[in-house]
Amino acid sequence: MARRRQIYEGKAKILYEGPEPGTLIQYFKDDATAFNAQKKGTINGKGVLNNRISEHIFTMLGNIGVPTHFLRRLNMREQLIRQVEIVPIEVVVRNIAAGSMSKRLGIEEGTQLPRTVIEYYLKDDALGDPLITDEHILCFGWASQEELHDIADLAVRVNDFMSGLFAGIGIKLVDFKLEFGRIWDNDYARIILADEISPDNCRLWDATTGEKLDKDRFRRDLGGEVEAYQEVARRLGLMPEG
Ligand code: C5P
Repeated sequence: MARRRQIYEGKAKILYEGPEPGTLIQYFKDDATAFNAQKKGTINGKGVLNNRISEHIFTMLGNIGVPTHFLRRLNMREQLIRQVEIVPIEVVVRNIAAGSMSKRLGIEEGTQLPRTVIEYYLKDDALGDPLITDEHILCFGWASQEELHDIADLAVRVNDFMSGLFAGIGIKLVDFKLEFGRIWDNDYARIILADEISPDNCRLWDATTGEKLDKDRFRRDLGGEVEAYQEVARRLGLMPEG
């Protein structure tokens, strides 16, 4: 592989300098972490599956007019993306109570929420990604009022589209995490969807059996991680021969 400049290494991905200015290459690793990296492991083949699944979802979102950083897939583990200035907020969208919401608020896992809930977490590993409100975001300037409006609007559009997409293949979209970035055009910044959408950052439950088809298999030591990710890819029509 040709030598190229590494821009950033995260828990599940590496970003390299792209072929043209304003582009990056996003490489999907097999590494898995949970609980703010206190639990670490490897899921063989995860990077390949997430690259395909994320490509598929970002392409469809682009087709319905959601601006995203995705340009094209380059190979099994890499995609070409637009370089953005990442907004330091993790946006979680919830349709069904699970995970930290269930724990924090004592709502039983699996409870259908009467309305979709959007939560914001500060992207800060040292602080353990604390839950924040829009007041904090505006107070500390992590995003402007207008940007926050665009972020919430895009999060709802992504949720509407993805809920339908997964419902059509017998999967409940319980919750998921999004990240957004800024693209600067002179002194005006536009918000676009960044990062990835895959079973690493979505909760996906089989609509009939309730089986978990996402990273909770790793977080909760349930086993069968690769098979679960493959099943999601298969139902999305993405599995190669065999
Ligand atoms: O852990 P919690 O219940 O808050 O997670 C909500 C959703 O956000 C889950 O789908 C989880 O996979 C995703 N998430 C993530 N990265 C984080 C925290 C949560 O992808 N750092």
